Amino acid sequence: MNYMSGNMLRQKFLQFFASKDHLVLPSYSLIPENDPTLLMIGAGMAPFKPFFTGKLQPPKARIATSQKCVRTGDIENVGRTARHHTFFEMLGNFSFGDYFKREAIAWAWEFLTEHLEIPAEQLWITIHPTDDEAYEIWEKEIGISPDRIIKLADNFWEIGPGPCGPCSEIYVDLGEERGCGSPECAIGCDCDRYLEIWNLVFTQFDRDEQGNYQPLAKKNIDTGAGLERIASVLQNKRSNFETDLLFPIIEYAAQVAGVSYGQAAHTDVSLKVIADHARSMTVMIADGILPSNEGRGYVLRRIIRRAVRHGRLMGIEKTFLVQAVDAAVAIFAEPYPDLLDKQEYIKKVVQQEEERFQATLAQGIELLNKQIAALEENKQTVLSGSAAFKLYDTFGFPWELTAEILAEHNMELDQAAFDREMDEQRDRARAARQENQRVALPDLTGLAVEQLSYNENAGQATIVRMWKDGKLTEAVRDGEEAAVILDVTSFYAEGGGQVGDSGWLDGPLGKMAVTTARKLPNGAIYHLGFIHEGVLKVGETVKLAADAGRRLATARNHTATHLLQAALKHILGVHVNQAGSSVGPDRLRFDFSHFSAVTAEELAGIEQYVNAVILQSIPVKAIETSQDQAKEMGAMALFGEKYGDIVRVICIDEWSKELCGGTHVENTAQIGLFKILSESGVASGVRRIEAVTGSGAIRYLNDQDKILSAAAVLLKTRPEELVNRLESLMSHMKELEAGLQAANTRLAKLEVQKLFDSLQEVNGIQVVTGVVNSADIDGLRSAADIVRAKLMCGVVVLASIVGSDKVNFVAMATKDAVARGIHAGNIVKEAAKIAGGGGGGRPDMAQAGGKLPEMVTPALNAAFTVITRQAK
Ligand code: ALA
Repeated sequence: MNYMSGNMLRQKFLQFFASKDHLVLPSYSLIPENDPTLLMIGAGMAPFKPFFTGKLQPPKARIATSQKCVRTGDIENVGRTARHHTFFEMLGNFSFGDYFKREAIAWAWEFLTEHLEIPAEQLWITIHPTDDEAYEIWEKEIGISPDRIIKLADNFWEIGPGPCGPCSEIYVDLGEERGCGSPECAIGCDCDRYLEIWNLVFTQFDRDEQGNYQPLAKKNIDTGAGLERIASVLQNKRSNFETDLLFPIIEYAAQVAGVSYGQAAHTDVSLKVIADHARSMTVMIADGILPSNEGRGYVLRRIIRRAVRHGRLMGIEKTFLVQAVDAAVAIFAEPYPDLLDKQEYIKKVVQQEEERFQATLAQGIELLNKQIAALEENKQTVLSGSAAFKLYDTFGFPWELTAEILAEHNMELDQAAFDREMDEQRDRARAARQENQRVALPDLTGLAVEQLSYNENAGQATIVRMWKDGKLTEAVRDGEEAAVILDVTSFYAEGGGQVGDSGWLDGPLGKMAVTTARKLPNGAIYHLGFIHEGVLKVGETVKLAADAGRRLATARNHTATHLLQAALKHILGVHVNQAGSSVGPDRLRFDFSHFSAVTAEELAGIEQYVNAVILQSIPVKAIETSQDQAKEMGAMALFGEKYGDIVRVICIDEWSKELCGGTHVENTAQIGLFKILSESGVASGVRRIEAVTGSGAIRYLNDQDKILSAAAVLLKTRPEELVNRLESLMSHMKELEAGLQAANTRLAKLEVQKLFDSLQEVNGIQVVTGVVNSADIDGLRSAADIVRAKLMCGVVVLASIVGSDKVNFVAMATKDAVARGIHAGNIVKEAAKIAGGGGGGRPDMAQAGGKLPEMVTPALNAAFTVITRQAK
């Protein structure tokens, strides 16, 4: 067995299967396409599900990949074991109804023993107990001795609904010295001795949402070998973390923390967490995921925050994750060169999130300390589940940290209640995901995708397939909803951020109103809608009528989106990258990376830039060319999108060159006018601009005009005089306000004067009581202040009635009066009690409220009685 780098291993694997006639495909994005059952790709086979079930035809019956995978099910274990990761790469070879067990087993064996030179005597095999066929092949054809073939009942592989089947795993024995030493130690033991390195799944079933297993028409092969695991074997390392695929990040983190790897168990855990999470976040952000509070974005946020926390556990106070991205990019630069292009962007996103989390931690600790103080005061030791959940959900404070800090105070958290809140939140998230569910696909076996085409100018077409509720049908009738595939279509399918076309399919016996068109993963376009009248049948010819006005309006917005991107790069800088876009007939929305709000001046500049290109009336050309040629032209490609060998570049002279499959105007002049409606922030480091063009822009400006005219009519002036008019109105209003305030002050003084009419003396203490009209609590306090200032040695008790059910009391006493035993707090308390309320305060000043305004006189009388008592 020779040392082999991780990169070399990946390459050898793919080359080996290419030599066995496999099509080698690049890794798919972590974001699943057309699969609402998955949050992220977590296995090599995940992007291929429709090929396994036979719903779609694969580009070739044999495929091999090294697939980027994220699994977060047992994130808590990451760092604690030698093998758990949130991010890993899965080497896999796949057969879609082509070869089966015999070849899959023989090739896996050949690759491991001959190409990686792992000694056969170190390898063990497991199979499903019922799988006699696999047993025979391993024993008879490969020559494995029967005591090395272990039958395990849980050798059945599945990932949620979809293709699954029995499996056979290959283990490597790393030697007695790596084991637990127990006499029972064998395959399946939790210790490190036997390491599973390859899982061969014989995909024979399709599991539905209810858990039923339907046999698949064709048998398939799905295999998965963990790149990091095999690398650890070939590099003779005790854990995946010590291989060249992860260790550089550990070295970096250890250096920042001033610790060394292998020094202490707890710092090793933190170093491993950081190494694993740095890889995950780097690839996730590169694939277009941004930190947020839901779905994938939340997974990313959690990963970043966990890494930051482990940095803090090792005593790192400053931000450090940004440089961990550099270390991760260096590891991945060879297989995923796009990371180099996106490196600065990824770092910006991580930096923002890290800084934000530092602030969150500080804020969360402060809030938690308050809760702890309150618990202490009430002699309690359990923090409620809802309080912990609020800290976690609203403030993003990690619940594990809440538990740790509580433990430091000999307190704990109501875990069961917290878990319940978490479950409820998960249910909400799941429900939200269901809403995005796509149309159920029928079995489309035998659909010859290469014979289907898209032609903007096609006038008629033949119906090739139709389905309703996920089942193929020959005919659909009036009122029914259905999906239709045609041999050729002029309908543009949703994609690249552009809405699908709507319109009509007009058949000999009926009509379908098409609400949108979409694309299957194999490229076939289908039309969704309902039958408006009559009936449509497979095989019939239909006239195609996509809504031309809607389409042109959409094209205007799409071309304008390209110009907007060019303008943003020109005015804000080249760091601007598209983070998402949505182009419809009414408006366009463009999300992009930028780290502060775009100023009004910048927005004006952007608008002007786009309109200048529109006014120059520049032809918009679509050029079909090779990927490389497009790159040479300097064409911009979108985040995470995949393009075939031949790509389409939309060129607007030197202004913009962008890879794009969408519909565009022929000349920029057709856009007419570009007007920005709004600019806002959507996530950390991502801004959004919404804009309109063409008749949408005219409509918008007309509406604005109408608003101005209506305002001008109300203010009895002309629109162009509005600002002057408003300015003079506002200054007039200010004068009026000042006058009103002066009048109120005069009124209050008069009222105060009147209060002195009631002045009485009790044992040498002056007492003023009374009701002040319509004063709020502040007004009441200042009236009492004025009275007290005029007293030598005395006390004032005032009340005011607010509405029909509230009365406020304020009492104030001079220093001398307090020295004589007057206590304002006790006085208002008594008064408020009579008025159906409560309150209190200091001896020199207090306030209280009651609910019974009709009791105000008895309340003040009671106050007087209290004073008489106190003044003795
Ligand atoms: N799909 C199988 C796995 O992930 C190979 O283990």
